[in-house]
Formats: sequence, C-alpha cells, structure tokens
Amino acid sequence: MTVKKRISILGSTGSIGQNVLNVVENFSHQFEIVGLSAGSNIELLMEQIEKFKPKIVSIKEKKMADLIMENFKGVEVGYGEEGLEKVATHPLNDMVVSAIVGIAGLRPTYKAIKAGKNIALANKECLVAGGKIIMNEAKERGVNIIPIDSEHSGVFQCLKKEKKEYVKKIILTASGGPFFKTSIKELQEKKVEEALKHPRWKMGKKTTIDSATLMNKGLELIEAYWLFDVNPSQLDVLIHPQSIVHSLVEFKDGSILAQMSITDMRVPIQYALSYPERLNNSCLFSLNLAEINTLEFYSVDKRKFPSIDFARKALIEGESLPVVLNAVNEVAVQAFLEEKIKFTQIFKIIEYTLDKHKKENIEKIDDIFRIDKWAREQAHKLIKKGL
Ligand SMILES: NC(=O)c1ccc[n+]([C@@H]2O[C@H](COP(=O)([O-])OP(=O)(O)OC[C@H]3O[C@@H](n4cnc5c(N)ncnc54)[C@H](OP(=O)(O)O)[C@@H]3O)[C@@H](O)[C@H]2O)c1
Repeated sequence: MTVKKRISILGSTGSIGQNVLNVVENFSHQFEIVGLSAGSNIELLMEQIEKFKPKIVSIKEKKMADLIMENFKGVEVGYGEEGLEKVATHPLNDMVVSAIVGIAGLRPTYKAIKAGKNIALANKECLVAGGKIIMNEAKERGVNIIPIDSEHSGVFQCLKKEKKEYVKKIILTASGGPFFKTSIKELQEKKVEEALKHPRWKMGKKTTIDSATLMNKGLELIEAYWLFDVNPSQLDVLIHPQSIVHSLVEFKDGSILAQMSITDMRVPIQYALSYPERLNNSCLFSLNLAEINTLEFYSVDKRKFPSIDFARKALIEGESLPVVLNAVNEVAVQAFLEEKIKFTQIFKIIEYTLDKHKKENIEKIDDIFRIDKWAREQAHKLIKKGL
C-alpha cells in the first residue's frame, strides 16, 4: 500500500487552490488533505470541508470561523494569521501548498518552512518580497521548495539533471496577455473587464491584471532568481502567445531544453505534489503539436510594458526594492480593479515609488512588513493625488 502524502493548502478557495484539490481528488490513493484555508469564501470552504474532511481549517474572520465550528464539530477551526499559521505548521503535513495571493501568503509560508514542511509554491510574492529570508530558512531546514508556477516548474524540470555551471540562460515565456497587440495609446483607455480577459489562463483577478501589465512576468523573473540561483543577466523573457512552451534553458554548449505542456495548471501542480515521482496525466487532453501547428516567439515591447524593467531594476538593486515593487503593485492593481485609476497609471505609480524609495537591508521578516507598509502608504497617497 502506498503511503499517502499529507497536504495542507493555504488559499484552497482560489484558482490554484481549487486546481490542487482537483489533483488530490484524481489521485486520492496518493494524496490526502490535512488542512485548508480561505480568505472570505466561506461557502466554498464549507463545500471543501464536506468533501475532503480536513483535520484543520482557517478563514480570515472570527465570525466565519465560529460558523464553520458550528457546522463541523470534529474539525479544528482557526482564523486570521494565527489560524493560517496553525494550518501551515500542522504536525501531520508532509507538504504545504502556498497558494494565497499577495503578501498575505508570506508569513504562513515562512512558518511552514520553519516547521520543516516541504513547500509547493504558487505564491510568487513570497519570493519576490522575502526571497533571501525564505531561501535561507529553507536551506537551513533542508526544506524543498517545488515551484507550481508553470514557467518555474518547466525550468525546474529542465535543470533536474544539469550542473548549475552549464546554464547560460533561463528564458520564461509570457502569453503577452490581452493587450499584446494593443498600441501604447490604446492601452491608456483599457477597462477592467478587458484586462480580465486573459487569452490563455484562468486565474484570480490580481494575477490576471498582473498578466495584462506583464508584471506577472516581472515578479516571475525575481522568483526565478531565488529558485535557480543565477545572475539577473541570465534571466530573460519571451512572448509566446500559444503558452505551450513554458520556459527554456539554454546551456553553454548551445543546446536549449524547453518544457511544454497543455495550458492547464493541473500539470505543474501535479508535478509539484508528486515530485520526485511522475503520475499519469489527470487532464482530459494531451498536447497535440500537429493540431497547434505554430509556435511563435517575440521580444517584449518594453516601452509598452515597462514592468519587466521595473522588476529587473528591483532585482539588481535587491534588498528592500523588490518588497516595494510588490507592495505598490498590489495596491495599484487593486485600485485599477476598483476603477480608481487607469490601466497605465499602474506603471506610473510603481515607477514613482521605486524612484523615491531609499534602499534598506532586509535582515528579518518584520523588515519586509515594515517596508511593505511604507510602500503601500506611498501608493495610496499617489492614487489619492491622481498621479
Ligand atoms: N492562477 C494561476 O494560474 C497561477 C499560476 C501561477 C502562479 N499563481 C500564483 O498563485 C497565487 C494564487 O493565485 P490565484 O490565481 O489562485 O489567486 P486567487 O484565485 O485570487 O486565490 C487567492 C486565494 O488566497 C486567499 N486569500 C486572499 N487573501 C487572503 C488573506 N488575506 N488571508 C487568507 N487567505 C487569503 C483567497 O481566499 P478567498 O477566495 O476565500 O477570499 C484564495 O483562496 C498568486 O500568488 C499567483 O501569482 C497563480
């Protein structure tokens, strides 16, 4: 009999979280759920509790936690940061899936690592803001961090049997998002519903807007830096509208390995959960290249999408700069979603705050939250001023 891998999910009600549960359901002989956590989607969390019978759950607010407790007598129920921490560090966890969106995912992921839990990482903001601290802690505790992001999963797979010194370049692909063919002038007037129409992937709102601004790729560059320990100059981005090739690794002998799969997050999720094993394809489709016929690649128009340059600047300067980038981006994206600013103002607010910020060293996790708070305040001020 196989021993089941016991998993807790931080952010089980999100797009990634639901896909993780789908994989767990498809491989119920391999995986079992220990803990689940949600922000405010209590209905879905209760459905998930009913179906997956976790030992522990957490939700953002106490009154929701009380309601869950009334309905599920045998389940340990927590709320807020403490609740997340309990899910993340539960003694039964073999692996924790980090799938909360934004900086809210950082502390519980850090706690899970401190408790020695292997991490399947979707929350890229964790490494963007806390890369140094997260990776040092993981190294010290002997914790594996397996990427869920399709691009990083691709690189991880390409590098599995390779020496680091052989790597010349890591190239992450981007679909180009809904505005790949939009002119700079037209970009200004793009509305929320247009930005939310991603051509390839179905994701949460924040991540979808990040894909439209290409900040998603900027954040992924920083994530790749921490995961694969290369120089920033070895990292690059290519637009690939078909989203079939997720990433490429060029080696010093000129050989390039690319990882391909259908556009379905269950593929990298399943790999992260089953690593180092591979399980059968649980999706309904296999990749059929003859049907796809054409794979295109383009350079990024950095004038139209300055996010990649912002991320590169933050990565090269390091320390507090990526924290600022991440925080300001979260605030600006939320303001755009609430129709308080125009699409292109997201870029302006990020650029202005990055320029204004005086770099500080990050020594401990609380430094990140202090700088994150400063950056959010700056961004809110700029939004109020109408920059
Ligand atoms: N979606 C993708 O295809 C994809 C691919 C690669 C990487 N990622 C990364 O994975 C992460 C999650 O993305 P997503 O698209 O799954 O986002 P999403 O659909 O918006 O889901 C976010 C999850 O986080 C929970 N959450 C949000 N704020 C919280 C808080 N303050 N406390 C506790 N829980 C909170 C949400 O709970 P409620 O819904 O209950 O409020 C939900 O479960 C992001 O970092 C994203 O960049 C996503």
